[in-house]
Amino acid sequence: MKNINITRKITQGMYVLTTKNGGCIVDAVSQISFGKNPLISVAVMKNNYTNQLLKTNDRFAISILSKEVNPEIIKTFGFNSSRNINKFERVETTKIEEIEIINNSLGYMICEIVDSIDNDTHTLFIGKIIEADVFEDKEAMSYQYYQEHREKILKAQ
Ligand SMILES: Cc1cc2nc3c(=O)[nH]c(=O)nc-3n(C[C@H](O)[C@H](O)[C@H](O)COP(=O)(O)O)c2cc1C
Repeated sequence: MKNINITRKITQGMYVLTTKNGGCIVDAVSQISFGKNPLISVAVMKNNYTNQLLKTNDRFAISILSKEVNPEIIKTFGFNSSRNINKFERVETTKIEEIEIINNSLGYMICEIVDSIDNDTHTLFIGKIIEADVFEDKEAMSYQYYQEHREKILKAQ
């Protein structure tokens, strides 16, 4: 392989995946079909507690983060495990269709899990959108923006 670093140029976003009893920051989200109830895929690491939760839950939500997101959300969901803390005690959420949605987000999609594919490191969960809403029309945070401003974002607050 000449240079695997080209994969870093794949454009991804910054999201909070939530499900019953937990969730985590994810960047690996894609829309994989159109129509009335589009399909969304999300790749979740096998050693994340969220992976275990998704194996026993039938739905998840994706809340989309803006460039101005409260850094506490990234710290709580991206650098802690629900094995040790209750993430929903640290971040304001609203329960919609039985799933906690991040209030400080641009909006959300709630998905019913319809399929999953395991590889060595991740499980790709495929969900059908059953509910969605837009809270704010601001610029979303890309994974690249997060990487470029990571120190400033994580130092804030
Ligand atoms: C910027 C960022 C992007 C991340 N992207 C993913 C991802 O796409 N998939 C994933 O499984 N974990 C991802 N993570 C890691 C999880 O959010 C992190 O390991 C989390 O603490 C797992 O919590 P849990 O054990 O409660 O599931 C990301 C973390 C950060 C900070």
